[in-house]
Amino acid sequence: MLTVHKANKLKGKCVVPGDKSISHRAVMLSGISKGTTKIGGFLKGEDCLATLRCFQQMGVKVREEKNQLFITGKGLHGLEEPEDVLDAGNSGTTMRLMAGILSGQDFYSVITGDASLRKRPMKRIAFPLRKMGAGIDGRKMGTQAPLTIRGGGLKGIEYQLPVASAQIKSAVLLAGLFADGVTSVIEPRVSRDHTERMLQSFGVTVRQDGLKCTVKSEELQATHIEVPGDISSAAFILVAAACIKGSDVTLENIGINPTRAGIIDALCQMGAEIGIKNKREIGGEPIADVRVKGSDLKAVEIGEEQIPSLIDEIPVLAIAAVCAKGTTRITGAAELRVKETDRISAMEEELKKIGVEITALEDGMMIDGPQIITGGSTDSHGDHRIAMAMAVAGLLSEEPITIDNHHCMAVSFPGFIETIENLREG
Ligand code: S3P
Repeated sequence: MLTVHKANKLKGKCVVPGDKSISHRAVMLSGISKGTTKIGGFLKGEDCLATLRCFQQMGVKVREEKNQLFITGKGLHGLEEPEDVLDAGNSGTTMRLMAGILSGQDFYSVITGDASLRKRPMKRIAFPLRKMGAGIDGRKMGTQAPLTIRGGGLKGIEYQLPVASAQIKSAVLLAGLFADGVTSVIEPRVSRDHTERMLQSFGVTVRQDGLKCTVKSEELQATHIEVPGDISSAAFILVAAACIKGSDVTLENIGINPTRAGIIDALCQMGAEIGIKNKREIGGEPIADVRVKGSDLKAVEIGEEQIPSLIDEIPVLAIAAVCAKGTTRITGAAELRVKETDRISAMEEELKKIGVEITALEDGMMIDGPQIITGGSTDSHGDHRIAMAMAVAGLLSEEPITIDNHHCMAVSFPGFIETIENLREG
């Protein structure tokens, strides 16, 4: 059990661990490329380590030297049939993106995950991958993990995504690398585009035409990847500092890809004082130093257009809403119900335990502010982002907040508590 006490101020500079989405993709794309890819800033969180282990099980060689990973790929058709079940742990990205790659392999594989992942919807990737020719089965009529995949013999498709999801988009595009003909996905709204950007770094031609993205089979050539700091991890510190008057924190080397940076836009809409400095681009991804100062926040309306760019940040955005004057309304976020946990009901349950009133909606939430967070005992539901959102609440709370099952923070942000404590002034 972890106890977090109120902070007077947060001050100073910090870095956050590497981007989770980009780290997964770096392992996967280097694993199917020709040559050795050097990866700096790789996130050694539980999710990305699961991806790494799965690719090692398929014969991919990984070496670590001075905090850099060197991954020697097997080319498009060199992965080996895994001898045992592949374990994606808690990671939806591992399972869904890897299913795209496994669908292209001329072998049989089984992927499973932890209790949370085994409940999450897999029809969303199984359906298009079957259309491309993969043999995919699973529990609950082929819709839940463990999934079995007999790959090979794929043909390209044009697929209209039912939801704006980078995981579905990426699974289909990755399968498209192994398919005959061209493969296109059309999104209802733009979701994170790390797969498209990174494929180009590996020398693949990616055609983007509005919301339609097209690839065809092409060998990937090893490259060098520098993973930027994860904006989804930075979000916890951004919100905490924005809510605590007198705070002044600079987060260095943060990925500010516009398909991910919705939390910065939302906080600015709320009146937060945020400065972006030292903008640059590394490996096709924009990064910058982000400075935030504590200020009075006002409520914000977030609708479905904005949701994909801040989907993972909604639990912590809810904490900002608690501090903000007026009614914050978040809608169009039904996807939150199928994340590591149902994040709408988890936030409803946990906020109530610490004295905060919230109205849960089918596709979002409403929070009136400002409210006093009284403190109390909470539970993470085994979800890293719920655990860290509760820790941020602890920094703002009258009495301490305890968090049960907090170790899941290491899924995406190993060292989160140490980072916060280093910034604490009083
Ligand atoms: C991710 C995509 C998002 C996000 C997840 C990571 C990715 O999921 O919530 O944490 O790396 O592609 P969806 O694709 O289900 O929206």
